[in-house]
Amino acid sequence: MDTIEKLSEFGIIPLVTIENLPDIPFIGECLINGGIPCIEIAFRNQLAVAGINEFRNLYPEILVGAGTIVNREQANDAVEAGAQFIISPGLDEEIIDLAIEKGVVSIPGVATPTEVQKALGIGIKNVKLFPAAALGGAGYIKAIGAPFWEVRFMPTGGINSNNVMDYLKEQNVFACGGSWLLPQTDIRGRNSDAVIEIITDAKNKVETSRRQ
Ligand code: 3PG
Repeated sequence: MDTIEKLSEFGIIPLVTIENLPDIPFIGECLINGGIPCIEIAFRNQLAVAGINEFRNLYPEILVGAGTIVNREQANDAVEAGAQFIISPGLDEEIIDLAIEKGVVSIPGVATPTEVQKALGIGIKNVKLFPAAALGGAGYIKAIGAPFWEVRFMPTGGINSNNVMDYLKEQNVFACGGSWLLPQTDIRGRNSDAVIEIITDAKNKVETSRRQ
């Protein structure tokens, strides 16, 4: 199974910015116990590279990606650290080329029909839609997907337990991403019950949406 297929099977991609490396075992256990062994680590501070590295060492069973990748150098650092997929807020051919060279999946961000068309032109059919809620939510995905029937979207930005089902119901959504699954306050407080409940709820919603 390739990485996109695995991400599609999970249907949910928890996103986190690592605040402290000792948080990693807590986060890893929550992901495993919640049943979504997958994480996107955001390049929003200096701990991202070490965080990816540590996750890969401690949890070979968890699929680990890098998020908020905005240039080729970050993409390279992420892959060297062990990232298995690269997610960007926007569309950058240098990052996509680097991912191809290194043999990892790149999921660039798009927000407009022009950007979707550009992604298709360079052979990318699985894109992140960002910032999903601000763009208009599930209705925007339905509308933008009509002309681009080959494209599958991973919406992120403003998704939470209350609205994730709206996105999951769309046929052209392969997974939903976001930070709501790993709240920093619960990570700091080692509140595993709360985090596992959020992740389990999301997993149940994926399963429900696929039965419909
Ligand atoms: C992203 O980079 O995907 C978004 O910033 C996630 O947005 P969220 O924090 O609203 O989930």
